[in-house]
Formats: sequence, C-alpha cells, structure tokens
Amino acid sequence: MIITDKIYSAGTLPPLGTIPEKMHAWTIRSERFGSPLTAFRDEIVDIPALRPDEVLVANISAGINYNAIWAARGKPKNVIEANGTYGDAKQDFHICGSEAAGIVYAVGDEVTNVKVGDHVIISASKYNKNCPFILNGGEPEYSPSYHMWGYEGNWGAFSQFSKVSDYQCVPKPESMDWDEAAVCCATGTTVNRMLRHWEENRIRENDVVLIWGGAGGLGSSAIQQVRAYGGIPVAVVSSAQRGEYCISLGAKGYIDRTRYTHWGNICGLDEAGVRQWSLQAARFRNEIYTIVGKRVNPMIVVEHPGSDTLATSLFVCAGRGMVVLCGATTGHTASIDLRHLWIYQKRIQGSHAGSADDLKEYLRLRREHDFIPSVSRVYSWDELPQAHADMERGSDLMGKYAVRIVPDDVL
Ligand SMILES: NC(=O)c1ccc[n+]([C@@H]2O[C@H](COP(=O)([O-])OP(=O)(O)OC[C@H]3O[C@@H](n4cnc5c(N)ncnc54)[C@H](OP(=O)(O)O)[C@@H]3O)[C@@H](O)[C@H]2O)c1
Repeated sequence: MIITDKIYSAGTLPPLGTIPEKMHAWTIRSERFGSPLTAFRDEIVDIPALRPDEVLVANISAGINYNAIWAARGKPKNVIEANGTYGDAKQDFHICGSEAAGIVYAVGDEVTNVKVGDHVIISASKYNKNCPFILNGGEPEYSPSYHMWGYEGNWGAFSQFSKVSDYQCVPKPESMDWDEAAVCCATGTTVNRMLRHWEENRIRENDVVLIWGGAGGLGSSAIQQVRAYGGIPVAVVSSAQRGEYCISLGAKGYIDRTRYTHWGNICGLDEAGVRQWSLQAARFRNEIYTIVGKRVNPMIVVEHPGSDTLATSLFVCAGRGMVVLCGATTGHTASIDLRHLWIYQKRIQGSHAGSADDLKEYLRLRREHDFIPSVSRVYSWDELPQAHADMERGSDLMGKYAVRIVPDDVL
C-alpha cells in the first residue's frame, strides 16, 4: 500500500493501492446547524486510521436519506456530540451518510471477507461485535452498541472514503449500477426488515399492505418488495402524478391524502370532532376496499410519517395485523385511539434500519424479480446540500436520490 500526501480532487480516484492522507468530505459542524444548504461544507479532513477489523471504502455513490437532514438541523439529536461514543476518537465535525456503494481500498489485518478492489454495498447497521450481548448470542440489532452508520457515529458516506466494519461490506451485484446499489442500504434493507422480520406478521401472499409516501424513497421500494412477495401494495400519496408513479411500480392503486383533513393529534377532540375524524378515517379505509376490490384491511401498514398518520394507520390495520414504523417525518409524538389497538389485537412495531442479512435478502429479491430502478435523480458532488434541501422541501422528485461521488468516466 502506498500512502501519499497528494489530495485527490472530488470526483477523482487514486490508483488502487494508493491511500491519500487527506480527503474531501461534506462535514457538518455545530456552529452551522440549520438548513442543509448551509450546514454542509466541503472540507479537507484526515482519512481515519483503520482498526484491524475495518475496511476503507472509496465511495462511488451515496444515497440521500432523511437522517442527514436531522443531522444538519442538530435536532432531535446533536450527532456531533455523540460521535465519540462508538469507539472512534471524538471529532468536532460529522460526516453523515448512511447509504453507499464503493470500492475497497484498504483492509485491516483481521479482515477476511473482502479484499482490495472488491465492489461493495455498505450495510448501515453498526455495532460492537465483541460486546457481551452479542458474544452471548444476542442479535446485533438489539445490542446496546447498535447504531446507524453515518448518523450515530462519524465517517459516513458523504466523503471520498469511508471507514466501515468488515461485516458491513456486502458484495455489490455487477448487474446493479452504482447509484441503485448505494440506495439499497438504508431504504431497500429497511423496508425488507419491516416486511419480514417479525415472524407472526411476516408478509404473506395476497396480504394487503398500505404504504405511506408510496412515491418516496421508502415507499417506492416497499411497493416493489410487496409485489415481489406476492402481496397487494396500496399507496398513499399527495397527488395524482405521484399516484401514477406508484402504479407504474406495481401498486394496485393509490389514495390521494390531500382529500382528507383528519391528520394529526386526536387527543382532546370533542364529540363532534371524534365523529368527523371517524367519518374521514372510515372513508379512507373504504378507499382501500375499493382499490383491493373487497373488504380486506391491510395486514401490514408501512408507517414513517408518524405524528400525522399513526391514528389512521392503526384504524385501518387488520385485526392481528401490524403497523410497522421506522420514522416520524411529521413529528415524533403521536396520539392513537387505544381501542383500535387492543380490541382487534393489532401490533405497533418499531423498526430501525436492517442487518447485512436483510440487505442480502433484498438483493436476492431484486435478482429474482423485475425491479424498476428507483433512483429518480443523481446529483453531483457539489449539489449534495441541494439534494438534501430538495428532500426537506418534499420536492416533486419521486423515488430515491443519489449523489455521484466518482463519475462513470473516471472508473
Ligand atoms: N429507521 C430507519 O432505518 C429509516 C430508514 C430510512 C428512512 N427512515 C425515515 O423514514 C422517513 C421517510 O424516508 P424516505 O427516505 O422515504 O423519505 P422521502 O423520500 O422524503 O419520502 C417521504 C414521503 O412521505 C410522504 N409524506 C410527507 N408528509 C406526509 C404527511 N404529512 N402525511 C403522509 N405522508 C407524508 C411524502 O409523500 P406524499 O407527499 O406523496 O404523500 C414523501 O414522499 C424519514 O423520516 C426517514 O428518516 C428511517
């Protein structure tokens, strides 16, 4: 391995086997917390040293994910304060990014699963594999050391190189382009876990699945995965154009949420308010029946808006079914009518990211089924803050966004 003090400009790559001392990275610092347009800055930082079980990956493409918006705001969590807590030296900057695909440039002495030159997708699930919980046979995703790469912990995807643990590296299928591969990590994988991880509520053939934000990142992946498992995806969207996009991905139909107003807090509604809420929720549920062609409630509701929608999700969910929630874009407090939970014995299940095994299952699904590419726009390196601002604004973009770190003509 050759170490060089030469800095390679963004969009270029050193020859394989050459590791620069420094790299370009989009950093967040606490004095810049706020809009992604100003919170991110392209800086030159040291490339971190590897521990024996770590891998240095040259990122080729990275996925845009909502967690970098939270990180840029510094709320609800100051990720910079937390970034020294996972075994790495504390830095006063944070490199975000939980989705990437790239080329292995260096490996620590103990790494055996990948070698220099391998093309890999990086799983976002990170943990200390030597923590007592895991050594005693506990699932890593429930370990106290479990955290999200590129959000909780520094050295994420928005840099020329990332330092990751060996178990995070999964071979990239050659048939997948770099951008599609990058966005598997915290989207395809997260959805796969939501649909399959909880034994009693694992997706089965002909299950109706309601998918909020069907035209968004998680939603567009959920539609395709539900279809591949033989389920019936019903999307919720905010315009007919977004609904038609969902249908092109395989949704059975869509509900335009802008035709309803019963969103948000249901605590403290007076009698008339409860009646209004119930009428709208029932009309919403009837739309599902119309789309499906029979009175069948969703066995799974893929939840992530949170505050605005949880009460409706629980209401429409089938008895013994599951509302599975992995985010809270509209706010992280919510109210529900508890009767909808216990009388029909439904489940509200939290879900976070996915394991390397969930990623492998997602890749298997893609290999065996006809998936339509979900990346709708690829931004350049310089446009990374804008990509996040577009996501924050909820722009007209559909599917996933990626940032290309090294263009094809350089590879
Ligand atoms: N825990 C995890 O591992 C994990 C992984 C990935 C993402 N997430 C979280 O999941 C959330 C969604 O991520 P994403 O990548 O899919 O984001 P995205 O691409 O921005 O999609 C979110 C979708 O939500 C819909 N939406 C927005 N406001 C809404 C409202 N008030 N009511 C209902 N729907 C609304 C929008 O669709 P319409 O306007 O068309 O309805 C939008 O397309 C984020 O909060 C993210 O942090 C968590």
